[in-house]
Amino acid sequence: MPTPQVLPFIYEKMSASRSLTRKSHLPKKPTGVAARPFHYDRDGQLLCDAVPVAKLAARYGTPLYCYSASQVRERLALFRKHFSRQDHLICYAVKANANLSLLRMIAREGAGFDIVSGGELERVRRADKRAMARTVFSGVGKTAEEMDLALRAGILLFNVESEQELEVLADRAARLRKKARLALRVNPDVFAETHPYISTGLREHKFGIDISRAREVYGHAAKSKWLSPEGVSVHIGSQIRSAAPFGAALARVRALVKEVATDGIQIRSVDAGGGLGIDYAAPLDAETFDAAQEVAAYAAALIEGLRGLRVRLLLEPGRFLVAQAGALVTRVLYRKRNGTKEFLVTDAGMNDLIRPALYGAHHEIVSVERPLNAEAQSATMDVVGPVCETGDFFARDRAMPDAQPGALIALLDAGAYAMSIASNYNSRGRAAEVLVDGRRVRLVRRRETIEDQLRNEQ
Ligand code: LLP
Repeated sequence: MPTPQVLPFIYEKMSASRSLTRKSHLPKKPTGVAARPFHYDRDGQLLCDAVPVAKLAARYGTPLYCYSASQVRERLALFRKHFSRQDHLICYAVKANANLSLLRMIAREGAGFDIVSGGELERVRRADKRAMARTVFSGVGKTAEEMDLALRAGILLFNVESEQELEVLADRAARLRKKARLALRVNPDVFAETHPYISTGLREHKFGIDISRAREVYGHAAKSKWLSPEGVSVHIGSQIRSAAPFGAALARVRALVKEVATDGIQIRSVDAGGGLGIDYAAPLDAETFDAAQEVAAYAAALIEGLRGLRVRLLLEPGRFLVAQAGALVTRVLYRKRNGTKEFLVTDAGMNDLIRPALYGAHHEIVSVERPLNAEAQSATMDVVGPVCETGDFFARDRAMPDAQPGALIALLDAGAYAMSIASNYNSRGRAAEVLVDGRRVRLVRRRETIEDQLRNEQ
């Protein structure tokens, strides 16, 4: 594996080059589904749906997370459309963005959820109690308490990741006298090209049960009065930009389902996990990413992978549904020069959006009020936050609009794994979140105060 120092470089390069190679595959007729809900109006004002982002910043302050509800609904509709010929259930991966209002909206669309903790379970319950029956519980380290919560709540399935977990689940189910419906999460040993930190489908990763052992484990599960083995699940990683590895993983799952059937165990659902990626490197005004086409190719690969099986397909998309719907809006505090380098210091930091620091991830950055002659006025800069870490950067040596202190900029594709990983590092309060829907705006999480942060301390 490359050393951490060179990872960022690889990751930025990887996503950038992919966007170029993808262009040639774009359909001739655009499908009318925009990659992002952000665009400029005639006066050079950045809008989210129909709402000027500058107005949102003036009203709610910065840093501010701004999401488009209509874009999320549009993505859900794309999944529904392209999977319509297959019995399926979308279980949105809560970890991507766990905002309660967003979850409620997704539940209202009829989707279920993929949760990984008791905390996420409680969020789903509060968003919509009825969605519990459409919820699957993943994760390598479920505690007995979390299992009890999920058994009592009547979730759809546990995705069990080890033989020991299976034993604990059987024990908890017996105590509560509730039968636990489960899938085994298998590790298919399939390589998917993505950042090494978010690749999960190889034998060397901590996730899942080695697929070659799975048949035996189903046998154990079937013997327990308190376990009902009903499904298989796989999740090979995240931000995967090609459909082929998903198809390869499901082909292995298909073989397993057939084997297990000969042992008398009927598998009724196959969970393909999440992982479908987006093009972080696409410039805002060039439509080089066609969401409809991405989902179409993904659906074709999965449905082909299940060929000949009569099962319900569960899907756990996170990023693809919400990443491009969101932006992090931040204000430029200072502009400074050290030696030959120029820096824009923003009021958002790595505690708000850690992806660049953690994965060397690329986020496009645009001005909220577009300078008239954007190109002529651009300068090469690092965009950095106020946190006391050299890793606190959003962009390095990037051609940036000629922003001055007070200017607003937006980091795009920040709807997933952004606010959900935000922290209080440097005792910074977490940002506010607004949900835009056409012309409507709702504050869906108020800015965290220092009192919020100190509440649990002595
Ligand atoms: N299902 C399981 C079991 C998962 O572990 C994940 C993501 C998903 C579904 C959703 O995957 P998605 O569709 O969002 O790719 N923090 C990283 C991403 C970590 C993904 C963790 N698991 C990032 O910012 O890129």
